[in-house]
Amino acid sequence: MDQRISQHNSINMDYLVYCSTTLIIFFSLFYIYAKYKLSYWSRRGVKTPPTNLFFGNFKDCITLKKPAGEVMREIYNSADPDDPYIGFYIFHKPMLLLRDHNLIKQVMITDFEIFPNRRFGSSNQRDPIGLDSILSIKQPRWRYLRGKLTSPLTGQKLKNMLPLMEECGKPMLKFIENLQSSEFDQENSEMKDFSSRYISDAMASIAFGINTNSFLEKENAFWKNGLKIFRGIKRSIAFIILFFIPEWGPLIGPLIKEPANYFREIFWDSMNTREKMGYKRGDIIDSLLALKNGEQDPIYNFEGDNLVAQSASFYIAGFEATSTTIAFALYNLSRHPEHQATLYDEIQTHLLGKKLTVDLINEMSFLDRVVNESLRLYPPLPVVDRTATKDYKFPGIELIIEKDISVYVSINATNRDSKYFDNPDDFMPSRIEAKQNKKFFESLAFGIGPRACIGQRLAVLLTKVALITIFSNYTVYYNMKKKPILNDNNAVGFFTYIADGLYVEFKKRN
Ligand code: HEM
Repeated sequence: MDQRISQHNSINMDYLVYCSTTLIIFFSLFYIYAKYKLSYWSRRGVKTPPTNLFFGNFKDCITLKKPAGEVMREIYNSADPDDPYIGFYIFHKPMLLLRDHNLIKQVMITDFEIFPNRRFGSSNQRDPIGLDSILSIKQPRWRYLRGKLTSPLTGQKLKNMLPLMEECGKPMLKFIENLQSSEFDQENSEMKDFSSRYISDAMASIAFGINTNSFLEKENAFWKNGLKIFRGIKRSIAFIILFFIPEWGPLIGPLIKEPANYFREIFWDSMNTREKMGYKRGDIIDSLLALKNGEQDPIYNFEGDNLVAQSASFYIAGFEATSTTIAFALYNLSRHPEHQATLYDEIQTHLLGKKLTVDLINEMSFLDRVVNESLRLYPPLPVVDRTATKDYKFPGIELIIEKDISVYVSINATNRDSKYFDNPDDFMPSRIEAKQNKKFFESLAFGIGPRACIGQRLAVLLTKVALITIFSNYTVYYNMKKKPILNDNNAVGFFTYIADGLYVEFKKRN
């Protein structure tokens, strides 16, 4: 018996020694491998922040401790003020974060032909609605598609859409009016929820050709399905993967499908009715119908899910970003009554007794500055990227960006860099006037170069219509009882978002 126990113990011992030796070898090999991979930038003379052996510089994002935009901002700020770039790693994959405006312009504009693609999306994921759209498509298909999709958003088309936007402003105004009565809880009216209802109605009308009233119908299905795309931990993980680890794209297919099925049904319902009835509404459905019935190029057919993808990508790109812009503009103005007064004067001067037109809106320069300054402080998309399609050398710098390396711009960090802005954290609409390089800053929230936001003019118009509608009738007050913002990025996710909400109160003008 004793002999058997001692034999058993000796086998266990051998097994333990075997396991620990295997583990030691495994970890030693992993250590050597990781150290080598994480020396990619130091071997090229590029600084990086301290790295984690497994996660690289993205530990806080991957473990959902901090949003990606905040992690990128920290990487940006870890460099010396005048560093033109800083390297970083997502797991062991090297990436470069640009800090210098000239280099940003070089990549995004001058040498765009070498950097035409985003890392976003995944090439082997077959979900045309979510992932084979203009947001993720690669060159040369991107250029063809971009050319075609510019037509629904021309100046004239936007003018045609203005009445649809104004129409959506009416239930919004009614909603605010109701907030004034004691039945409604003005104090708990959250601005992102509020603005997402206006934008959902507007985008439903513009991109899907249907009328919704999510102010009246609290649980409106269109609005809720829009939120489903962006809210919740599963979706946050999906966006982090799509933006930063797209190789894992196939893992998240099921997370994307549900809202896609909903939007597919709505889209075809609208397209089929429009085609059968033959009427025009001045919206994106009109333009897509023309693309569907026009001559097709094998590079990208406007049929089936490819058509749904365009409406869906406009909706996805527009819904979250534009509603965030409106919410922050209201918040910023609520903290600055003096800017509200200037804005009100401008609206009054231009609009008194006149019908609202795009030309009149374009004349309101202070309104324009309010929107730009709000976007500077709170860019809804904090990060953009491009991937090199071949080895590239910056002019005058001894650094080669190898093929397939992704280059990032941290919009939220650049926009608050004291090297470029005095008092960068302050909301000062007039500052933009004084700055050189005006165009650059104005447009950075929308990306930059040929692949910048295609919906910029639409987004700005939607935002301005909302602000004109509200400020013609109301003033907004900062809600002192609600917790002030301590940190503008205190939620897990990819898009700029305030977990605790943004609260303002409306007061009717006399
Ligand atoms: C204030 C609201 C908005 C902001 C801040 C915003 C911001 C952005 C940014 C930063 C990009 C990436 C640009 C780059 O990579 O350089 C982008 C791309 C895009 N946005 Fe927007 N966007 C907004 C509203 C909209 C709206 C309303 C639409 C609807 C038409 C839209 C459609 C798109 C599309 C389709 C792309 C991809 C363009 C391409 O790859 O060619 N966006 N947007």
